[in-house]
Amino acid sequence: MSEKILIIGANGQIGTELVTTLRGIHGAEQVIASDINNPAYAIRHSGPFEFANVLDKDNLHHLFQKHQPTQVYLLAAILSATGEQKPKLAWDLNMNGLLHVLDLAVEFNVAKVFWPSSIAVFGPNSPKQNTPQYCVMDPNTVYGFSKLAGERWCEYYHAKYGLDVRSIRYPGIISWKAAPGGGTTDYAIHIFHEALKTGTYESFLSANTMLPMMYMDDAIRATISLMDAPAENISIRSSYNLAGISFTPEQLAEKVKEHMPEFTITYADNDPRQAIADSWPQSIDDSTAQRDWNWQPEYDINALADTMLKNLKNTLVL
Ligand SMILES: NC(=O)c1ccc[n+]([C@@H]2O[C@H](COP(=O)([O-])OP(=O)(O)OC[C@H]3O[C@@H](n4cnc5c(N)ncnc54)[C@H](O)[C@@H]3O)[C@@H](O)[C@H]2O)c1
Repeated sequence: MSEKILIIGANGQIGTELVTTLRGIHGAEQVIASDINNPAYAIRHSGPFEFANVLDKDNLHHLFQKHQPTQVYLLAAILSATGEQKPKLAWDLNMNGLLHVLDLAVEFNVAKVFWPSSIAVFGPNSPKQNTPQYCVMDPNTVYGFSKLAGERWCEYYHAKYGLDVRSIRYPGIISWKAAPGGGTTDYAIHIFHEALKTGTYESFLSANTMLPMMYMDDAIRATISLMDAPAENISIRSSYNLAGISFTPEQLAEKVKEHMPEFTITYADNDPRQAIADSWPQSIDDSTAQRDWNWQPEYDINALADTMLKNLKNTLVL
C-alpha cells in the first residue's frame, strides 16, 4: 500500500529534514508538509504544502479529510527555553495540539502516528548517568511536563483505541540546514555558526554542562526505523529513550579548535537555560530501543563537528 504522510510543524529544525527524507523514500506527492508559518523554499518547492494551525481542530479536520493520511508526524511544539517565557502557550500547544491529532488519527483510521518527546521529561531527581527508561520523573519545566503528560496520552490512546502511536525522547538535535527552535541545547549549534562568523562564542551553558545530544541524520534515521518496525516489536507506547553522544561545551569547543586553532570560547553567568540543563540527564540508557528496533547511532563528536563545519562553511553568508 502506498503511504500518504502528513507532517505537522514541517518548517522547523527537524521537520525540514524529515520532509526531504520522507519525500525521497515515498515520492514528493505522498508527503504533505504543513505548518502555521511560511515554509522554506526547499519545502514549498519540493512537494505539497498546506497552511494549518494544529490548535484549530476544524482546520486540522479539513486537512485529514482532504488527504486521508496513512501516517502523521506531529512536530509542532514550543521548546524548552521558549516554553519558560510563554508557559501557558507552551502547555496549550504541546498538549492540545497532540490531543487534536490523536483524536483525528482515531477518527480517520490513521495507521501510524509519530510524536516526539524529549529528555526534558526527566527532572532533578531522575538519575543523571545512563538515565533508565523507567525511573523517577519530576520535570520542572512546562516543556518537560507537557512532554511527560503527552507520553501518558500516547500510551492511553494506544491502550484504549488501539492507535499505533510511536515516540522517541529526542536528546538535543544538532544540525545545520534549519535554525534551532529555542531549546536548551541550541548552544551546540550556535557555537559552529559563531566560530565561522566571528571566531569566538559565548556559551550560555557552563563549561562542564554535560548533556545528551545527537546529530540530525541519526535522529531522522531513528525516527524512520521506529516507524518502519513491526508493531509487535514496539514494547513502549509512551516514548523510547534514545542516546547519541554526550558532551560538554568545553569538549565541543576543543573539537572546534582542532579545525580552527584560533577559536575562543567564554561562558555566560546566570543564563536561565543553565537551570534547565542542570535538571536534565547527562547520558541516556537506550537499551530498549537497541533491542526492539536495532538502534545504533553513527555520529560521534568528531563526525558531528566535521560535518557541521564543512556544511556551514559552504552555506553561511560570512
Ligand atoms: N530540536 C531538538 O533538539 C528537539 C529535542 C527534543 C524534542 N524535540 C521535539 O521535536 C519536535 C520538533 O522540534 P523542532 O526542533 O523541529 O521544533 P521547531 O521549533 O524548530 O519547529 C516547530 C514547528 O512547528 C510550527 N508550529 C508552531 N506552532 C504551530 C501551530 N499552532 N500549528 C502548526 N505548526 C506550528 C513552527 O512554525 C515550526 O515550524 C517538537 O515536538 C520538539 O519538542 C526537538
